[in-house]
This record gives sequence, C-alpha cells and structure tokens, in this order.
Amino acid sequence: MKIAVFGAGYVGLVTGACFADLGHDVVVRDILPDRIESLRRGEVPIYEPGLDELLQRGRERLTFTTEVAQAIDGADIVYVAVGTPPTYSGDADLSAVWMVIDELPRVDRRIVVVMKSTVPVGTGEKVRHRLDERRMTDVGYVSNPEFTAEGTAVRDFLHPDRIVIGAFEDADGELVERLHAGIDAPVVRADVASAEMIKLAANAALMTRISFINEIANVCEATGADVVKVAEGIGLDRRIGPSFLRAGIGFGGSCFPKDSLALKQLAANSGYHFQLLNAVIEVNELQKRRVIGKLTERLDRLRGTTVALLGLAFKPDTDDTRESPALVLAGRLIAEGASVRLWDPVATADGLPGVTQVKSVSEALAGADAAVLVTEWPELREADWAAMCSTMRRPVFIDGRNMLDPAEMRRLGYVYDAIGRAAS
Ligand code: UGA
Repeated sequence: MKIAVFGAGYVGLVTGACFADLGHDVVVRDILPDRIESLRRGEVPIYEPGLDELLQRGRERLTFTTEVAQAIDGADIVYVAVGTPPTYSGDADLSAVWMVIDELPRVDRRIVVVMKSTVPVGTGEKVRHRLDERRMTDVGYVSNPEFTAEGTAVRDFLHPDRIVIGAFEDADGELVERLHAGIDAPVVRADVASAEMIKLAANAALMTRISFINEIANVCEATGADVVKVAEGIGLDRRIGPSFLRAGIGFGGSCFPKDSLALKQLAANSGYHFQLLNAVIEVNELQKRRVIGKLTERLDRLRGTTVALLGLAFKPDTDDTRESPALVLAGRLIAEGASVRLWDPVATADGLPGVTQVKSVSEALAGADAAVLVTEWPELREADWAAMCSTMRRPVFIDGRNMLDPAEMRRLGYVYDAIGRAAS
C-alpha cells in the first residue's frame, strides 16, 4: 500500500520506517524544510536505536517531502503523527492535527486518515465532522494509537503487545489491519472513542504504577525497608507483574507528563474530578524534588556547592530531555545557589543557564561536593567508581535510579544514598 505519514518526529519516523520495512511505499511529510533535507541526505535527526538501519534498509520505499500534494499523490492511507503538546490549560493542543486535516486535498478515490498522534477522546468524532463539513465524506477515519517507548520504539512497533484499531467503518479498520500484515500481535478492534481512551488509560496505568512504587519507596525510607526487594517481592505476584515498578526520581518524557495532564483535563472538562490521576501527578512532582532534600541533609547548605548531575535525558537510549527530572533538579539547584556540572553521553544542555556540560563522568565528579545519578545510562554501571571517589571534594552520592550496589559504593568510600533503600 502507499502511505503518507504527516510528521517526521519520533512517532512519524518510526511509523514510516517500520511500514517501509513491512514492504509499503511511504512518503514522510514535515513542515520543517531542514528536517526533510537532512532526512533526504540520509541523516537521522533524532537518536533512536535501530532507526538508522531501518531508514537505510527502506531507502527505496521511503521518500521525504514538505509538499502535501506530493505526500498524498496515490496514497491509500494518511497517517497523522504530529505533536500534540499541552496548552496552558493542560488540554492537548491539536492545532498541528487540524492543520493536517484542513490541508488534505480532495481526491477522487477513498483514502483513510489514521490518527497516530495521542489525542483526547472525542477527537475522531470532531475530525469526522470537519471532514463531512468539507464534503469529504469518502475520506475514512481510524484511530490507531501508538504504544512505542523511546529507546525501544522500533522493536515496540514491529513486536507490539497489541495493535489497537478504532474505526467508524469496518472496511477502513480492515484496511489498517491489513497494513500491519507481518506483525504477529493480537488486534483489538474497537469504536473510535474507545481506541482513543485505550491509549490514554494505558499510559495512566503505567504512571500510576510508577507513582505507587515511588510512594512505597518513600515509606520504605521512613521505615527501614528496601524498595528494590519489595518490588521484586510484589512483582512476582502474577496479578501484579514486575514491569514499571522501578522506584526513582519520577517519570518524565514527551508522553507521560503531557498525557496525564490531557486526561486529567479531559475528565475535568466533562465534569469529573479524576482524583487518582491528580495524586499520581502530584506524587511525581514531589518525587523529583526529594533529591534536593537529600542533598541538603548531607551538605547542610547548597549555596556555593558544586553538584554533578549524571544524565540529562529523561531515560537512557534517547537524547530526549523533555520534562526530564534532570531539568527540574538543575533549576532547583541553581535557584539554591549551587553550581551544576552535567554529564550525558547523548543529550545536550544547550541553553540551560548556569549549567556546565562536561564530556566524562570523571570530569563531572572531580572537585564536586555531591553527585546525583539521574539517568540510568548503561555506562554508569561500568564506570570506575573506585578511582573517582577520592577526586570529589565530598563524596556524597545520590543514586536516583537505584542503579548501583549500595554496599559496594559505601565500601569505596562514598556517602551513598538511593531511593527507598535504607540509608547507611
Ligand atoms: C511511554 C510508554 O511506555 C509507551 O508505551 C507510550 O507509547 C509512550 O509513553 C507514548 O505515549 O508515546 P516513554 O515515555 O518513551 O514511553 O518511556 P518509558 O520507558 O515509559 O518511561 C517513561 C518515564 O517513566 C521515564 O522517565 C522513566 O525513567 C520512568 N520510569 C519507567 C520509572 O521511573 N520507573 C519505571 O519502573 C518505569
């Protein structure tokens, strides 16, 4: 089939590259000329493991354009994969979605618009209405939400737990299902509103688990239990399962914070106060700031100290810093009068006032009063902690991801603390 993908961000590029890999002809369209130019040159504008190879492999079946007409030319399917960031009110900003819908030209054959962007429940209904108003009744509409996580997006797309397809017309749903031929996964066929809600509810469930384990961690700290053991013990219960039970300094990223606000707002706009989700969001905000309390406890005062932040990306294997807990930490530390030295193997801190980015972990630690492990980059597991301890002014180490072995770090001389694990 021939597919037009609108949006060359994380979601659009992964969708386009994976469909090309499945044998479809794909045109990716974006409004940013620089982005399209670099893609044409074979450069990948984002860091996503496996995407490079996939784009290379699909070269013959993939084209990039800024032109709507060129993207739509001969297309059977139009994927919408544009950003839906939050507005001031917390609602999702759908202006990029509307731009795509309003730009769609009238064609003399049936095309199906497929929504990949995360949108509030009811968006499909509104798009249908808008298309009908423009007398484009022969344009179909399907919701096909994405469940890909950054860093594992290609694998998640090609080996998903499920494919969700919500359609107004059965035939359109079948077309989108056929598009996924070659992917072995259960397909959930639903109405459009339910498909939209599945996406929001899945993310809300994952965030709830994270805030839950973070609160358990905080109670562990107060009572002398170890959250890593507790997570292992509860995760083996088949009804609970082990995923998303890693306590830490809170969730970030381009999806969870935005989607939680959007769902909270969606409920509020419909007259419902989503109490649990409000608590999940608040727990997460507080969790990001708890590290400041831990540092103050160890250093007495933060003014005049140098703190090394190890990691800037919101999680490993991505260069995405959106809503990263590191940004909140850096901002709070600078406001308290500390200097911040930051290391990340991929993400950059351009434009972060008061933050000095360094090239190695040892450079970050040398002369620092404290270090905070913010992102669990694999290289931190292998770092030569023994050699670095004595280079610090004060060897205070807060492991915000419970990545390192507490006993070993303490043996090496660090004043080591983590999240939800009994302090030394
Ligand atoms: C998330 C979902 O996992 C995807 O299924 C979804 O498609 C995507 O959002 C989206 O809506 O587009 P992503 O934000 O890329 O994917 O990353 P995750 O791996 O889910 O991590 C999110 C945040 O939660 C990170 O900051 C991570 O450090 C944190 N986290 C995750 C924890 O603190 N503890 C955990 O146990 C798991």
